[in-house]
Amino acid sequence: MNMKNQTMEHVVAIRGLENVVAGETKISYVDGVDGRLIYAGYEIRELAAHASFAETVYLLWHGELPTREQLDAFHVRLVAEMRLPSQVIEMIKLAPPSAHPMDLLRTAVSALGMYDPDAADRSDEACERKAIRLLAQTITLVADMHRVRQGLPVLSADTKLGFGANFLYMLRGDSPTKAEQTAFELLLMLHLEHGLNASTFAARVTASTLSDMHAALTSGLGTLKGPLHGGASERAIDIFENVNDIDEIDEYIEGMLNEGKRVMGFGHRVYKTEDPRARLLREQAWILCQRTDLAELAAQAKRVEQLVMEKKGIYPNVDFYSGIVQHALGIPKPYFTAIFACARTAGWLAHIREQYADNRLIRPTSHYIGPWDKVAVPIDERG
Ligand code: COA
Repeated sequence: MNMKNQTMEHVVAIRGLENVVAGETKISYVDGVDGRLIYAGYEIRELAAHASFAETVYLLWHGELPTREQLDAFHVRLVAEMRLPSQVIEMIKLAPPSAHPMDLLRTAVSALGMYDPDAADRSDEACERKAIRLLAQTITLVADMHRVRQGLPVLSADTKLGFGANFLYMLRGDSPTKAEQTAFELLLMLHLEHGLNASTFAARVTASTLSDMHAALTSGLGTLKGPLHGGASERAIDIFENVNDIDEIDEYIEGMLNEGKRVMGFGHRVYKTEDPRARLLREQAWILCQRTDLAELAAQAKRVEQLVMEKKGIYPNVDFYSGIVQHALGIPKPYFTAIFACARTAGWLAHIREQYADNRLIRPTSHYIGPWDKVAVPIDERG
């Protein structure tokens, strides 16, 4: 009897680990059948109506929404950390101008670990300090990256502004309107967390080796970059760059569908009904698109929605509206995925800490389908 018969007889590999329950979590639950997203017990629409991004981060990190006092203290710490070591700013300056912001973000987050005084400390207190620092630093990286690439001076955070508003201010150099702040805070909240998706799993696998937070976050960033994961919002907005006006939409979309192409920003692997995040972000997209210069974009987007539903019965996902909202906020397209990553950083950090708190090395096995019982021949005797 060879090894194959002894050990592999009844093994079945689950491709893509689909439907495999790989751990327990208190952080979030995605209900694809009923189209619900739950963050630590709260329906996402509850939080969208009554909480800010920072409050929701606090919830996912501590299990409870903060009191006013706790939020104020959290906000002070978060804004105080919205700055980068000068060496990392230099690194941004030295990066090739063609580098995608996601590549630069991944590299810079990895580098930040070398400047973090708490990098090797996994105590609760150090992890809380690092989590606050990393969340503040990732979004600052994106703002500073844009400013440096534009040849503009980087800006310091304004303690009077909230987290999302501070990013818009540091990126654009002007204070966002109330409507812009509301839309961007919601966008960040909706991208914060989404169950055990590929990047979150990657971050947890790295954390399970008891590697450091920066390493685990770098794993998450590298995984999110792939076109099957993040990135759809950048491509969703391409539709509107490829048509001149609304009269060209029907032909363009029908052409894509007839050729069997996917319309970016539509469909979802888990949600079999409408993506609850898309429903919430759509409202904000249309509010921002009341501006005259965005009226044509809104009209085109509504027509795309109608057509894809009519022809394929497929709903838009969160990325469709995320692209529209970010465009309306004046965020350049190459930064869309990086901003998703900044929001998701808070979710990854929650998972990394949950993994540390009850760790077991994640080490699955595989179904060996290679040959058996081969004899190694010395190199000079091989034909
Ligand atoms: N545009 C056009 N048709 C789409 C589509 C889209 N965006 N998404 C799914 N479909 C169609 C498929 O072509 C297929 O049609 P068919 O039965 O006539 O062949 C049917 O819907 C089912 O597709 P399937 O591949 O089984 O769906 P899925 O659940 O595996 O795909 C995605 C999920 C997200 C990969 C897919 O919807 C997609 O590629 N969307 C575009 C990219 C995107 O927006 N990603 C971000 C997700 S948050």
